[in-house]
Amino acid sequence: MNTCKCSKAEFATDMSVPVCTQPERTGLVTIEDEPIIGETPQATLQSWLTPNSLFYIRNHYSIPQWEADTEWELALDGHVDNALSLSLKDFRSLPIQTLPITLECAGNNRSDLEPQVPGNPFQNGAVSTAIWAGVPLRKLLERSGIRDGAVEVLFEGFDVGQPTPDEESQPYLRSLPIDVAMHPDTLLAYEMNGEPLSREHGYPLRLVVPGWYGMASVKWLRKISVLQESFEGFFQKDRYIIEDDDGGAIPISTIHVKSLISWPQSNTSLPMQSYVVNGMAWSGFAHIARVEISDDGGETWGDADLVGPRYRYSWQQWNFTWSPKSTGHYTLVARATDEDGNVQPLETRWNSLGYIINGVRPVCVEVR
Ligand code: MTE
Repeated sequence: MNTCKCSKAEFATDMSVPVCTQPERTGLVTIEDEPIIGETPQATLQSWLTPNSLFYIRNHYSIPQWEADTEWELALDGHVDNALSLSLKDFRSLPIQTLPITLECAGNNRSDLEPQVPGNPFQNGAVSTAIWAGVPLRKLLERSGIRDGAVEVLFEGFDVGQPTPDEESQPYLRSLPIDVAMHPDTLLAYEMNGEPLSREHGYPLRLVVPGWYGMASVKWLRKISVLQESFEGFFQKDRYIIEDDDGGAIPISTIHVKSLISWPQSNTSLPMQSYVVNGMAWSGFAHIARVEISDDGGETWGDADLVGPRYRYSWQQWNFTWSPKSTGHYTLVARATDEDGNVQPLETRWNSLGYIINGVRPVCVEVR
């Protein structure tokens, strides 16, 4: 049971769940105070499930506030036979689907890029895992009767602002191709790890697109529209794109295969003995098939054991028993491969907006 400690829990009148108007301050590593942006601390990256209060936060604008007597409703309209309007009660009366899903911000590890690029300087903590619960989006799209010729579904958040000083004020808007929107695992989530979504993570309802970088999972949903043409908004065409070799732009979608070393941290000094090096690996394309570890910066490799829960859309824990042969300096690196054969690259492909930073990340250790 989620008990609200907030003294200002008055913004909604007809909701059976406790709500806060003020976001709670958390133990996240702060990247920005307003809008709130924070990453999961390194120590928590050892936990398969990320506690809600330590789940990374990436907001483009201030967290939206509702008037005290406003009742939240989600509108579904556009190229459909029956436009819908649904309350949170309506959502809660539908069969619930629960899925463990890892979200990673497309700019995770941006601070590792050389030369540096503008944007939030995330280290490796803009990635977290929760058990999300809600209603498959497909159920509502089916109920609304999508008409022939629909190509995309557009999602609008309640949050509004100027994405850059040169842009007009606008809501956070992102679209999905119709086949992804209709995928049975694409969720409209109202719970995170058994608790109602917090204000920071999109209360009362958000989209969660399994296997896609986090920008697709629109928070604070107010409207869903079925479109007959592609959406060309700022967060679709000017951001979350990566330049190709010919100067064109490729939109970012599925999470590329990646791993991190949770323990040890870089610049640790360890007495000479055996250790269990551990970490996480994930890919939006398929299950993780293999994680290899090197203690010489990638010259030689050994296989790690895949341990713990194994689900399609959540990261995979791994362990590697490491016995350093002598005292001295070691460069530990991990490299993941998924079941589609995608191999984590040794080097990230540099790009000017700083996305998909999945090259292996060295961890320097001194054995004494
Ligand atoms: N949805 C809205 N409405 N506004 C936002 O700024 N940020 C997106 C996405 N959904 C965003 C949003 C980005 S870039 C990411 S990485 C994820 O939310 C982060 O979700 P989280 O803050 O719950 O971790």
